[in-house]
Amino acid sequence: MISRQDLIKKYIDFFKSKGHKEVPNSSLIPINDPTVLFTTAGMHPLVPYLIGQKHPLGKRLVNVQRCIRTDDIDEVGDATHHTFFEMLGNWSLGDYFKDVAINYSFEFLTKILKIPMDKLAITCFVGDKDCPKDEESYKIWIDLGIPKERIAFLPKKNNWWGPAGTVGPCGPDTEMFYWSNNNKKTPKVFNPDDKNWIEIWNDVFMQYEKTESGKFIQLKQKNVDTGMGLERTLAALSSLDDNYETILFKPLIKEIEKISGKKYENHKKEMRIISDHIKASAFIIADGISPSNTGQGYILRRLIRRSIRYGRLLGIETNFTKEVVKPIFEVYNDYKELESNEDQIIIKLEEEENKFKKTIEKGTKQFEKLAKENKEISGKDAFLLFQSFGFPIEMTMEMGKEMDIKVDKKGFDEEYQKHQELSRTTSAGAFKSGLADHSETTTRLHTTTHLLNEALSRILGPEVAQRGSNITPERTRFDFVFNRKLTEEEIKKIEDMVNHIVKKGLNVKSEEIDYKDAIKTGAKGEFGHKYPERVSVYTVVDKDEKTGYFSREICTGPHVKNTKEIKKIKIIEQSSVSAGVRRIKAIVEN
Ligand code: ALA
Repeated sequence: MISRQDLIKKYIDFFKSKGHKEVPNSSLIPINDPTVLFTTAGMHPLVPYLIGQKHPLGKRLVNVQRCIRTDDIDEVGDATHHTFFEMLGNWSLGDYFKDVAINYSFEFLTKILKIPMDKLAITCFVGDKDCPKDEESYKIWIDLGIPKERIAFLPKKNNWWGPAGTVGPCGPDTEMFYWSNNNKKTPKVFNPDDKNWIEIWNDVFMQYEKTESGKFIQLKQKNVDTGMGLERTLAALSSLDDNYETILFKPLIKEIEKISGKKYENHKKEMRIISDHIKASAFIIADGISPSNTGQGYILRRLIRRSIRYGRLLGIETNFTKEVVKPIFEVYNDYKELESNEDQIIIKLEEEENKFKKTIEKGTKQFEKLAKENKEISGKDAFLLFQSFGFPIEMTMEMGKEMDIKVDKKGFDEEYQKHQELSRTTSAGAFKSGLADHSETTTRLHTTTHLLNEALSRILGPEVAQRGSNITPERTRFDFVFNRKLTEEEIKKIEDMVNHIVKKGLNVKSEEIDYKDAIKTGAKGEFGHKYPERVSVYTVVDKDEKTGYFSREICTGPHVKNTKEIKKIKIIEQSSVSAGVRRIKAIVEN
C-alpha cells in the first residue's frame, strides 16, 4: 500500500522532472490577507505571484500545502470531508497553460499512480457571461482518450475556483473524479451527482482577477493552479472508499475506540468528527494559535469544543483529546512545526478541555431544559449558553438541529453586539481616565508606525505582516512576520522611505466606514484582531501613488494631520521575538 510520504514524493518528483521547483509548505495562518482566516489552498501563499509579481524560483512551482477549510465544517462526518487536509499542487506562473497542464495531470494519474483510465471522469466549465465554455479542455481530454460520456460540463458553482478571499485571481477549472465504489462496476456514463465519484484533482486556469466591484478582469498572465486532495487520493490508491480508514486517520480512530469502548463501524460520524477536529486543532496550535473568542482562536476553540461534545455523545467522560492527538506526531513526522510544539499542543488541548469540562454538562442540561420549555431558543438564551457555559453559537445551533428546535441566530448576534458595545464603552472610559496617552509625541509615533508598516512591506516584500505594536512616549515598537535579520542597508532604506514621506508633508485623512468596505478598499488590519462592523481608517494621502495613498490602515488613532508634524524618525533597534517574527523600535526626533 502506498504511504503518505510516497505519494508526496512521487508528486513532487514528477513535477520536478518537468522543470518545477518545490516551494515550502507555508503556515496555516495566511500572511497579509485579512480577508480569510486560514490558508485554504496551495495557491494562497502564491497570490502575489499569480497576479504578476516575479517568483524567485521561476515560473513552474510544486509543493504540498497544509490547509484548513471551515466552510464545510458541517460536512465533516461523511467519508471524504475534512477541516484539515493536505493539498498537492503544481503551478505555472504565466508559463504553460491548458494543454500541458492537463497532459501532466493525465500522465501522473495514469502512468505514475497507475490509475486505470476506466476509473476516471472529468468536468469542464460550461461557460457564462464572464467566461466562455471550456471547449479547449474538453478537446484535450478527448484526445487523451477520455470517452465523451465521461465528461460533464458544469456551471460556475462547480467548475470555477477562487478567489481564495473576496478578491484576487480565479478562473474556470477542469476536475478529475475517481470511481470509489469497489463493489460496483464503474458506470459508462458519468453522473456528477453520484456520490461514488470522488473529486481528487482540480486544474484551475487562472486568467481572471475578481475585483472589489465583483467584475472579472483578465490577468496580465495566464496561470495554472492545481490542487490534488492527498487524503482522497491516498484512499483511492489504497482501494478504500472512506478516507478515515486510511493510515492518515486509522491510528486516531483506534485511540477513540479504545477510550470509548465503542466500535468505529457503529459510530462513524462521531469518530470522524473527533479525529478530524483534533488533527486540525493540533496543526493550528502548531502554527502559533491558542483557543480564544476571536479570529483563528475562535475556530480552534470551536473545533476542540465540538470534539469534546462528540466525545460525550460516545460516552467519554475523561479527558481524551491529548490521547487522540498522540498518533499525529508519528503520522506527520515530517512536520517540524508539530514536533517542536508537541508539548504546547498537548497542554493547550488539555487546558481547553478542562475549561469546557466545567460547564459542558450544566450547559447541556440548560439547553435541554430550554428546548423542552420553548418552541425556539431565543437570542438571549443562546447568548447565555455562550457566555455562561462557553457554548459556541454554532454548537448551540447544531444541537438545535439535532433536537429539531430553532435557534434565533440573529437575536444571538444582536445580543453579542450589545455586549461588545458595552465592553467598548467601558474600555473607552478607561481611556479617558488616562490609560491612553494622546500626547504630541505619541501621536507622531502612531503615524510613524503606519509609515513603518508600509515601508517594511515595500522594501522587504509583501510577506511582511504586522504581529503587534506598542507605543510609549519614548518610542514605537513594531513586530512583524519576517524570517531573518534586516541588513544595515535595508534599515537605512526603510528609514529613508519613511523620512521621505514625512518630508513630503502628506495629509492624513480619517474616515469611519464599514469594516468590509475598509478591507475591500485595501486598508491593512492586524491579523487575528476582531474588528467591529464599523471602523476608523487612516489614510496617508499621496497623489503620486497609483492608489492615491501611501498607506491605509484600520486604526483607532490618534494620528497627526500632516506627516510633516513627525519631523524625522530613526530606527534604533532590531531584535527577534520568536521564530519568524522580528521586532524594530523607532523614535521621532525633533
Ligand atoms: N486552488 C484550487 C483548489 O483548491 C486548485 O481546488
